[in-house]
Amino acid sequence: MRVLVTGGAGYIGSVVATRLLESGDEVTVLDDLSTGHLDAVPGGAAFVRGRVHDAATLLAGSRFDAVVHLAASSLVAESIANPAKYEENNVLGTSRLVAAMRGLGVGRLVFSSSAAVYGEPSEVPITEDAATRPVNPYGESKLAVDDLLSAEASESCLGAVSLRYFNVAGAYAGLGERHEPESHLVPIALEAALGMRPGLTVYGDDYPTSDGTCVRDYIHVADLAEAHLAALARAERGCHRIYNLGNGRGFTVREVLSAVEEVTGASLEVAIGPRRAGDPAVLVASSARAERELAWVPTRPAIAVMIEDAWQVLVARRGAR
Ligand code: UFG
Repeated sequence: MRVLVTGGAGYIGSVVATRLLESGDEVTVLDDLSTGHLDAVPGGAAFVRGRVHDAATLLAGSRFDAVVHLAASSLVAESIANPAKYEENNVLGTSRLVAAMRGLGVGRLVFSSSAAVYGEPSEVPITEDAATRPVNPYGESKLAVDDLLSAEASESCLGAVSLRYFNVAGAYAGLGERHEPESHLVPIALEAALGMRPGLTVYGDDYPTSDGTCVRDYIHVADLAEAHLAALARAERGCHRIYNLGNGRGFTVREVLSAVEEVTGASLEVAIGPRRAGDPAVLVASSARAERELAWVPTRPAIAVMIEDAWQVLVARRGAR
């Protein structure tokens, strides 16, 4: 297939682009490099710099069989401070991209949605039928896109798949997480272990969980990428399908930090701070539907493997400086 990967210079997008290339697809990356890195775009991919809003102009005359759409703003805290940015980049951007796809005659789309659409769940593990009650504008923007894709699938026969990621970690083919500023737990803890920051703060230890810290379901970025390939194959005209992607097992923040200490051999300086706005207490996925319908099975479910893979890439990147 000829696949357009938006956000292919980002952490997850670059791994998806790499896996597509490895399985014989042709890949074009569209990325405005506002948060992505040009050196993360895999060598075998064509690269177009620009926003998804301008896809119709930037890609005029191109031919694609499918789009994997990952370009988005994805910081929960920023979304609370600046909700308009999330409406503009995530919702309007996707609506423009879908219009461009119509113009180019592209009928398949895989979209990177998020566990954030569920907000504070009333039951875990979370299935795709759980109520969607996002607790921050980031989650609202992802839900608005999921709704937009449902409408588009029924109106214009688009074959769309929304993949609701839980917490992504790990690295693949030298491609690791590299956000500036970094807000995610695993890379922050690894940077602390490497002495790149003095320590870290745990955001709240008074949640109703086993040790008071938030529980998250971590999924290896390579397993996540594999689900995109399976979803592309499954996309069917006129249907919008939704899949949760996680391992079905939750880890508290403290458990993640212990695993980081074990893998790296470092002892972390940890302070306890107040809760972070917009953080649900527990997010654990049921990925039974993805396993059943996409024949998708995570091959790297161990948190230690995710941390080890991310650690190797961080150490190599630090050494290369
Ligand atoms: N955490 C800390 N200290 C830090 C960073 C994070 O205690 O320095 C905690 C958070 O409070 C949270 C957990 O570690 O409880 C995981 O936080 P991350 O920022 O790594 O990930 P989130 O769970 O906030 O975010 C993920 C995705 C988002 C998505 C969100 C849904 O990365 O895209 O889940 O809530 F929106």
